[in-house]
Amino acid sequence: MDKNTITITDNRDGKTYNFDILDATVGPSVVDISTFYKKTGMFTYDEGYTSTASCQSKITYIDGGAGKLMYRGYDISYMANEKTFLDTAYLLLNGELPSKEKLEKFSLEMKKRSYVHEGIKKLYDSFPDYAHPMAILSAGVSALSTYYFKHLKINTPEEYKEMANRIVAKVPTLAAMSYRYSNGLPIIYPDINKGFTENFLYMMRAYPHEYVELKPIEIKALDTIFTLHADHEQNASTTAVRNLASTMAHPYAAISAGIGALWGRSHGGANESVIRQLEMIASVDNVDEYIAKAKDKNDSFRLMGFGHRVYKNFDPRATVLKNIRNELMDELGISSELVEVAEKIEKIALSDEYFIKRGLYPNIDFYSGLILQALKIPKEMFAVIFVIGRTPGWIAQWSELTQQKNIKIARPRQLYTGPIDRTPK
Ligand code: SDX
Repeated sequence: MDKNTITITDNRDGKTYNFDILDATVGPSVVDISTFYKKTGMFTYDEGYTSTASCQSKITYIDGGAGKLMYRGYDISYMANEKTFLDTAYLLLNGELPSKEKLEKFSLEMKKRSYVHEGIKKLYDSFPDYAHPMAILSAGVSALSTYYFKHLKINTPEEYKEMANRIVAKVPTLAAMSYRYSNGLPIIYPDINKGFTENFLYMMRAYPHEYVELKPIEIKALDTIFTLHADHEQNASTTAVRNLASTMAHPYAAISAGIGALWGRSHGGANESVIRQLEMIASVDNVDEYIAKAKDKNDSFRLMGFGHRVYKNFDPRATVLKNIRNELMDELGISSELVEVAEKIEKIALSDEYFIKRGLYPNIDFYSGLILQALKIPKEMFAVIFVIGRTPGWIAQWSELTQQKNIKIARPRQLYTGPIDRTPK
């Protein structure tokens, strides 16, 4: 018997079945069950994929128990503290950190490609006032494909690089436009003399013919937030992106689908919900009542920004953000009232059996909202900030799947529990 296998016995008839074990370079091995249905006539069942690996990947590694996150083998604290978001985007897209020259070239490419076709403004004009920026952005990214239709065939490394750079460079412009349009503000075009993150803040805040102050500390804080959000293994929105990649859908459609999945409040929409929840709780005197609601099985209330499918202790990204929040409280003018409420929630939750037993710790969204609020980013734009950070990760994941030799279309099966044939005879 080959040692690197697992044997499963069906106790109903004593039959045994062998399946190969595939080892990771680091982290859990997997049992290859691709022949399970063929051998046993049964499907495996794993709602929400809590124990299921959907793919092989070389991009991002997470160790939930150790609270570890690596992009292409580089630890997240190194990337957040020593590198920029453009370093991170280049690393995820190309597999290597850029040299100084390559980074300068990439940065110039981002600036040149940051403009979007003027026709996008007609699409944005069609949306009602106060349309949610995530809805506008998802439509905007999908609409981009109509301007680059001849480029939708991505077969060579050059075509991949051009597509990737185009989308990464244009998403911030579409994002800032979605904010400006949803608030009836004049569009601010990218300034080719500004860096990637500075340009986004400029397009969000500037007014025609009026100087706008952008503090270096604000640019660095937002750039770090983009870096922390850049990729995260096979989370729900990346799974959506990979599902579209498996059908050979083009990257614009895949990124648009990723934006839709990320918008959910259990996922990237959580950072907006965290702030709304802190504002609703409003005072440290009310925290106990809401902790009790979060623990009550009969109450649908959940503590937003707490818990994670993979991290069963501190989310390493949350640790970086907590340091930024504490360091920049004064300089960024972070609301001390909301911080007091957040700190009381964290203190109680981290000592309460309900949260400890379930491994519920603050995740990235618990801290990002307070910093974004201090950066004068409106709440409805928080998930959009997540999109700007995550876009290079999504593109890298889309590309990794589409460059596989034998692409299997994502097509899970089910446990059918519905009616048996009721067709009238
Ligand atoms: C992101 O996957 C990623 O990598 C995502 C992300 C990324 O970078 O892409 O990290 C970004 O999405 C972070 C998560 C943001 N979402 C939230 O903060 C929303 C609040 N958190 C929960 O909805 C929840 O914790 C999830 C969705 C994040 C994780 O859900 P799981 O892993 O499916 O866990 P579960 O829902 O099965 O909960 C397990 C138990 C349950 O209690 P029991 O049935 O065992 O008694 O924990 C409880 C849950 O009721 N629980 C919570 C809770 N989260 C889980 N109870 C109160 N408050 C919470 N926040």
